[in-house]
Amino acid sequence: MEIYEMKILIINGSPHKGNTWRLTEEVKEQIAILDNTVKYEEVHLSKLNLPFCTGCSACFRKGHAFCPHNKYIQPIMDKIEGCDGVIFSVSCFQGAITALTKNFTDHLAFLLHRPRYFNKKALIISTTGGVSANTVTQSLANTLPGWGFNKCYQLPIVALSWNDYKPTEKHKKKAYKISKAFYMNLKSKKLHSPKIGVLIPFNLFQAMCEEYAPGTEYSTQDGVFWKKYVGMRYAPGIPLPIYKRAIGRIIYQIGRYLSSKMIITYKK
Ligand SMILES: Cc1cc2nc3c(=O)[nH]c(=O)nc-3n(C[C@H](O)[C@H](O)[C@H](O)COP(=O)(O)O)c2cc1C
Repeated sequence: MEIYEMKILIINGSPHKGNTWRLTEEVKEQIAILDNTVKYEEVHLSKLNLPFCTGCSACFRKGHAFCPHNKYIQPIMDKIEGCDGVIFSVSCFQGAITALTKNFTDHLAFLLHRPRYFNKKALIISTTGGVSANTVTQSLANTLPGWGFNKCYQLPIVALSWNDYKPTEKHKKKAYKISKAFYMNLKSKKLHSPKIGVLIPFNLFQAMCEEYAPGTEYSTQDGVFWKKYVGMRYAPGIPLPIYKRAIGRIIYQIGRYLSSKMIITYKK
């Protein structure tokens, strides 16, 4: 019998291996207590030399393959596709995610229009000197479900240190609790029903897609993408109770009503 090895991708959105990386290593140690066969792959955004998102909107209009920086982005998208879960390791800079992380997520903003990763789960780790680690983790936890992520765990920690963080016993306990919940959820392969907030973009963008179909004045990739979800209120295989289906249908109807009244134009 073939033994399944869990694959976790770690995206280091900090410009160095500092306090947040130390906490990430702690998480790996805690997961190893539960399962020492887990395979990790690391992406260090600082080593990528990813240029800033130019705001050209080619990803939205033509498809992300037309992004001028696709050669940097596509391999990471493939890695996300190929793993069971993703750990985002992001320091708190000025009460927010690092610029490296913001630049990376800007390149993937089109995923809010055309979500995928419906069976992926994330653990978002952040450390701060004093305040706002939770703002960092929450901000990514707000974004990732819009990309399709099924579940997000958060581990925000106040490190009280410049680059010399040593996890306290209390922090180790918290890291263990969250790491265990993340690992067990990955292992279970259980897929969770989306929150109502996630149904909004899914159904609105789907409802609007006809205005942007090929051959229309302002056609975009959305007009092609949503064809595979016609009649679906959320992605196939994800549990959706009847009441959420009904809410999705209402959002869809609102989207249909609004779409012809607010066409999004672009410079040709
Ligand atoms: C540019 C910069 C901005 C920072 N902003 C904050 C802040 O807004 N609030 C805070 O409490 N600590 C702040 N700190 C401290 C870091 O959040 C803290 O040292 C954190 O653990 C750094 O993680 P890292 O070593 O993984 O980069 C800042 C540090 C730097 C270098």
